[in-house]
Amino acid sequence: METVVSGIRPTGQLHIGNYFGALRNFIKMQYDARCLFFIADYHALTTHPDPKSLRENVRSVLVEYLAAGLDPNVATIYVQSDVPQVAELQLLLSMHAPVGELERTASFKDKIRKHPDNVNAGLLTYPVLMAADILQHRADKVPVGKDQEQHLEMTRFYARRFNSFYGVEYFKEPQAYNFGTELVKVPGLDGSGKMGKSEGNGLYLSDSDTDLRKKVMRAVSDSGPTEPNQPMAEPIANLFTLLRLVSAPDVVQHFTDAYNRCEIRYGDLKKQLAEDIIAVVAPIRERIEAIRADDAYLHRVTSEGAEKARASSAATLADVRGIMGIKRF
Ligand code: TRP
Repeated sequence: METVVSGIRPTGQLHIGNYFGALRNFIKMQYDARCLFFIADYHALTTHPDPKSLRENVRSVLVEYLAAGLDPNVATIYVQSDVPQVAELQLLLSMHAPVGELERTASFKDKIRKHPDNVNAGLLTYPVLMAADILQHRADKVPVGKDQEQHLEMTRFYARRFNSFYGVEYFKEPQAYNFGTELVKVPGLDGSGKMGKSEGNGLYLSDSDTDLRKKVMRAVSDSGPTEPNQPMAEPIANLFTLLRLVSAPDVVQHFTDAYNRCEIRYGDLKKQLAEDIIAVVAPIRERIEAIRADDAYLHRVTSEGAEKARASSAATLADVRGIMGIKRF
């Protein structure tokens, strides 16, 4: 069975872009592969969150992943810092991580441009920690977005260098995994671009039905088509993209035909869209509320997840130490 590893940065509440873009695929994959999903709180520290909000964000991502359908009896779900072995593997891998290469990493350059006042060593070695996350479980596949592909390529460099330096065939080279035809970019409601957390255009898994309705009804549209089969402007195309994600095919067809005949009423489209979004979100939100209140459950899930992840990591570390010449007397 293949091993799949992915980390999620604890950046606050999840929106339906996260759900349809990644989470839904994680949920499907958990049944087909040995999956380990973790919340990357060590990585989050690179940008200096305040301790209280870090803790809250880890908790809310955990709750929302479980509520959406990641099953801790099927996949291994853990918090990165509960497996401190990863820090030792990072140390060992860093011996094969040229500084020049780290300095040229796009994400590092981006961070120093945006936060010139906080250029710390953790930021520089972010890719080495990510490589350790992946290699500690000897992953075959890593489901990530485009923005993480360079990090994954560096992971392969480290694996390859380690193998060739020590003359072993130890680490596999993990491959990026995106979901082919199912890869969807979920648009926001403000007319352009994708749904984001900071842009204020997000529909959150924890939003109430009333909030969801309000946000959808306020979505940017236009004054309507004037000619049959006219190409759609971006805000309208975005509404249809959302509709295709949540609504039945005949509903999509109905509004597409109405658009093409210049008979569409965006108010009706939005009403339908809002109700179909609510049908997806409401059950998740109800589970979020139940799980959020269940400290004992969260404690059990993270403890069991950490134990499984530590066992997997410890086995790799024992091998790596041996290969590098670290042996007990
Ligand atoms: N860097 C990833 C991000 O920003 C999060 C991450 C950390 C990760 N470690 C990982 C993703 C290992 C995949 C595998 O989204």
